[in-house]
Amino acid sequence: MSKLKNDTFLRALRREPTDYTPVWLMRQAGRYLPEYRATRERAGSFLALAKTPELACEVTLQPLERYPLDAAILFSDILTVPDAMGLGLGFVQGEGPRFERTVRDEAAVKALPVPDPEDSLRYVMDAVRTIRGALGGRVPLIGFAGSPFTIACYMVEGQGTRDFLHVKTMLYRRPDLMLELLDRIARATAAYLSAQIAAGAQAVMLFDTWGGVLADGDFQRFSLASMRKVLEALPREAERADGRESIPQIVFTKGGGLWLEEIAACGADAVGLDWTVNLGQARARIGDRVALQGNLDPMVLMADEAQVRAQALRVLERFGPAAPGVGHVFNLGHGISQFTPPENVAVLVDTVHEYSRRQRSGN
Ligand code: CP3
Repeated sequence: MSKLKNDTFLRALRREPTDYTPVWLMRQAGRYLPEYRATRERAGSFLALAKTPELACEVTLQPLERYPLDAAILFSDILTVPDAMGLGLGFVQGEGPRFERTVRDEAAVKALPVPDPEDSLRYVMDAVRTIRGALGGRVPLIGFAGSPFTIACYMVEGQGTRDFLHVKTMLYRRPDLMLELLDRIARATAAYLSAQIAAGAQAVMLFDTWGGVLADGDFQRFSLASMRKVLEALPREAERADGRESIPQIVFTKGGGLWLEEIAACGADAVGLDWTVNLGQARARIGDRVALQGNLDPMVLMADEAQVRAQALRVLERFGPAAPGVGHVFNLGHGISQFTPPENVAVLVDTVHEYSRRQRSGN
């Protein structure tokens, strides 16, 4: 493994000075890219693609061939963990993920194993190792997992949901059982992310996609506490061929804007923000404690070039000028839409790089 040629992303996460604002995009490898659709076609399905390390590596690198992004993210899915816990993941065309089994009672919770990641999730670790080799130190590789509460939503519901009926029923009727479920998922997730780090992941991110649907108080007890448990169990450094490196941690709670101070205190180095948050206000509230990641509305990318440019500048201006001890990683406030015109991503990445360089040099 060679030394990093571009460590701007890791420096921003550590709140060290950077020459410009680094940028990567949630779901940057995905259906909006024709080359992704071609590789998925060859693989036969999304799951076959994710479970074949060479193909997962190929699609991880695709957005980096097109755009000067500052980080790569492992191509995989948050639902690999409940799949390895025995639930049987499938994807129904046009309807999203679906599990063969759900976890709704005590017997089902107690039967859940904590999988050995180098066994049933070995394909993910092999993908991490393959991608690190193929990157050759171009940019850092992000590993990730879902937050325990977000994973619990899919395990209890068995699929996506709008009203969270079954998971909230368990949470309010049997809070003890929900905590037991979250604890098992947290242990599985800690082992999974630790293995990704050992395999070569250089930063890790928890996707708390559904924490924001919880009531105040319940978010802290059921989602935030279980994320803290995961992060506390992870190694903060990894031994590599060329020395030790620190492994920054990012948490992203969609809809978490009301709880920024509490999220910033969960032990992570950086907090991801959705587009409902004003970045300047977030910086004033927590920007001296953690780096911030975000937060352009992904649908801005559906507009024309001039609008993409203007909205990107608005995000950078709201964050404000670089200063010692603050860090900003530009990103979208959620995953990129499959309908995004790929040219607009080029405009966005160039705008962020050029404008933030000028912001640094004061003209
Ligand atoms: O960011 C990246 O490029 C890394 C890859 C990544 C995927 N999923 C690939 C994927 C990441 C980080 C995820 C996370 C994920 N997966 C989340 C949390 C992030 C978020 O968006 O809030 C969630 C909730 C999932 C679960 C999931 N996976 C759903 C609901 C779906 C179906 C979505 C749909 O539109 O059909 C997936 C499938 C999936 N995961 C795709 C990709 C590129 C699309 C599958 C395809 O190619 O058809």
